[in-house]
Amino acid sequence: MKLCMIGTGYVGLVSGVCFSDFGNDVICVDRDLNKIKNLKKGIIPIYEPGLEELVIKNYKNGRLKFSTDLKMSVSRSDIIFICVGTPTKKKSNAADLSQVYNVAKEIRNSISKFKIIITKSTVPVMTGDEIEKIISQKKTKKLFSVVSNPEFLREGEAIRDFSYPDRVVIGTADRRANQILKNLYSPLISKGAKYINTSRRAAELIKYASNAFLATKITFINEIANLCEKINVNVEDISIGMGLDKRIGGRFLRAGPAYGGSCFPKDTKAIITTANQYDINLSVIKSVIKSNKNRSSILLKRVSEILKGKIKNKKICFLGVTFKANTDDMRDSSTLLMIPSLIKKGAKVNYYDPTGLKREFVKYKNVICSKDIKSAIAESDLIIIHTEWNDFKSINFKLLVKNKKSIIFDMRNIYSSIKMKKLNINYFGVGR
Ligand code: UGA
Repeated sequence: MKLCMIGTGYVGLVSGVCFSDFGNDVICVDRDLNKIKNLKKGIIPIYEPGLEELVIKNYKNGRLKFSTDLKMSVSRSDIIFICVGTPTKKKSNAADLSQVYNVAKEIRNSISKFKIIITKSTVPVMTGDEIEKIISQKKTKKLFSVVSNPEFLREGEAIRDFSYPDRVVIGTADRRANQILKNLYSPLISKGAKYINTSRRAAELIKYASNAFLATKITFINEIANLCEKINVNVEDISIGMGLDKRIGGRFLRAGPAYGGSCFPKDTKAIITTANQYDINLSVIKSVIKSNKNRSSILLKRVSEILKGKIKNKKICFLGVTFKANTDDMRDSSTLLMIPSLIKKGAKVNYYDPTGLKREFVKYKNVICSKDIKSAIAESDLIIIHTEWNDFKSINFKLLVKNKKSIIFDMRNIYSSIKMKKLNINYFGVGR
């Protein structure tokens, strides 16, 4: 099939590359000329394990193309995926849909035969209705079908999530479009993915409700972790004990720092804005946002307790500063709150991240980026394990830590408290 992905961010690039790997002809379009030039050279704009190899392979075999020419790309394709950003608006919590609507206008001017136009970007309920209105004209009549096909991939696991999804959601009442998309996704369906066809509005809401629910699960276990710390219970026992109940499920029940990234914070706010328009109070999601906002303060209070209130002049090392492992993405990472707060209290921060220096911290003179784990942790008073990179999972602290009094605060519970105790290391986790 001939596909066109408009927007080469996470969703557009990963989906486009994977579709081309399944044998489709894909053009990935972006208005950023530099990005397109680089992609043609195999230079990937984001850190995502496995992506570079797939881009190079499919670009070389000619199934994957890159272009800045939206008109030409749309006219050559049968299925158009809109994958542009839907960030939070500057002055409100609503999603900014200007990029989506601008793309819809451009598509309108490039239609001369039947096209399926799909929103893969996360868009509020009824955005599909609006896109349909924008594209509907005398000359485009019956030449297009607007479908919602939300994406559920995670940064850092994007290729695996795309290739082995739990479900494919197609929101359309158009039988012809549904059949074409079922064929497009047949390689995933044959591997076990469930295919569901819903109304377009339902598909749009499934995406927001899923992200809001996952954010709720994380926030829930983070609050239970707070209680565990007071009563000397290990939160991991709780996660396992709860998760074994099939009605609950064990995933996304790992306690840790505040959830971050480009999706949960943005999408929880956007679904509330949508509900407000209909006078519906999504009180659970509202309290999730509030609790998550408070999470970094709770962990900072813990840091202060661990250092017995003496933060001034303490050397604090952060292992990992992105919002999660296997990504270079700093968006809404809890370190953006925690590190400035610690240096304001007089600490000196040293961090090591496998994805290198972060421009967000360059302006702080008391924040240094180390070149490796060894130099980052050597003289630290406190080592904070902030992200769960594999690189941090078997550190020989006894050997590497020069400051024998240093303390470890493992915000991802990577290490066993019992083993650390045996090694005589002053170790703290979350919720235990
Ligand atoms: C999330 C969803 O998981 C994807 O299904 C969705 O497609 C994507 O948003 C999106 O809307 O595009 P992502 O933000 O990439 O994916 O990353 P997650 O793995 O979901 O992690 C989000 C945050 O939750 C991170 O800060 C992570 O550390 C935290 N988290 C996750 C926990 O604290 N505990 C957990 O058990 C799981």
